[in-house]
Amino acid sequence: MPETDTSPAPRRALGISVENLRKSFGSTEVLKGISLEVKPGEIFVMMGPSGSGKSVFLKHLAGLEIPTEGKVRIDDINVADDRERPKVRLALVFQAGALFNSLSVFDNLALYPREHRLYDRKTIKEKVEKALAMLSLSDAAEKIPAELSGGMKKRVAIARALVMEPDLLLYDEPTSELDPIMAATISEIIADLREEFGVTSLVVSHDRDLAMTIGDRVGIMQEGELLAIDTPAGIRQMDDPRIKEFLNPAIDLKNPRFKRSA
Ligand SMILES: Nc1ncnc2c1ncn2[C@@H]1O[C@H](COP(=O)(O)OP(=O)(O)O)[C@@H](O)[C@H]1O
Ligand SMILES: [Mg+2]
Repeated sequence: MPETDTSPAPRRALGISVENLRKSFGSTEVLKGISLEVKPGEIFVMMGPSGSGKSVFLKHLAGLEIPTEGKVRIDDINVADDRERPKVRLALVFQAGALFNSLSVFDNLALYPREHRLYDRKTIKEKVEKALAMLSLSDAAEKIPAELSGGMKKRVAIARALVMEPDLLLYDEPTSELDPIMAATISEIIADLREEFGVTSLVVSHDRDLAMTIGDRVGIMQEGELLAIDTPAGIRQMDDPRIKEFLNPAIDLKNPRFKRSA
């Protein structure tokens, strides 16, 4: 019998086009007209302070939120349309990992392909093992997520996304709650996966080091508006005081923003 071919299928790198995206929840406008293009195979990092609308933006790319106004297209597919969305192979790496603590790491990765009967048992096992090996997690296959360090949990969340063999990877705060060394490792993994598979990668993060190191281009979002898009070098040279303050917050001990009331 021929061996099952588990080598990665040839990918089509996907481009993203966002046109005047607006989103309101009730009377609160959270996204105020975002427009941008992400090129196929690019790593685009959307930076911004917490509460600026990054996660809401990312959910629109995955079709988990529907725009109040404007368009989100991935390779000419309207991801807000339930019938069209399945044509896009995308995987979202959630901020908190969203792993099941009652399941082993192996079963966390196998869950979706099993439930959706994507492949036979043997193929699922091979794909899961391959994804675990890629993220140096083979020894952790039988552990449950609660037994793992923060960095390992993030790697499991990425491995689980890889089992889907996505053409587009969306990451929500992949380095949050990690120490700087672990955060650097995760940044390297994101860059590596793009090298290896040419997968278009969109990362939302408030991690400046990640953005400036692995971003081909970086967007800066504030209060639902896109202040700038450029290469990391271009962003560093910008004169906009809001961008400077975000990249290098001044700590002013004489005039603190936060004062304890006596
Ligand atoms: N489902 C929702 N309903 C109402 N408000 C929401 C919802 N999701 C997010 N928001 C609000 O949108 C704003 C941006 O949130 P978010 O995208 O999570 O910010 P970030 O990821 O940049 O920290 C916040 O003020 C948040 O409270
Ligand atoms: Mg967020």
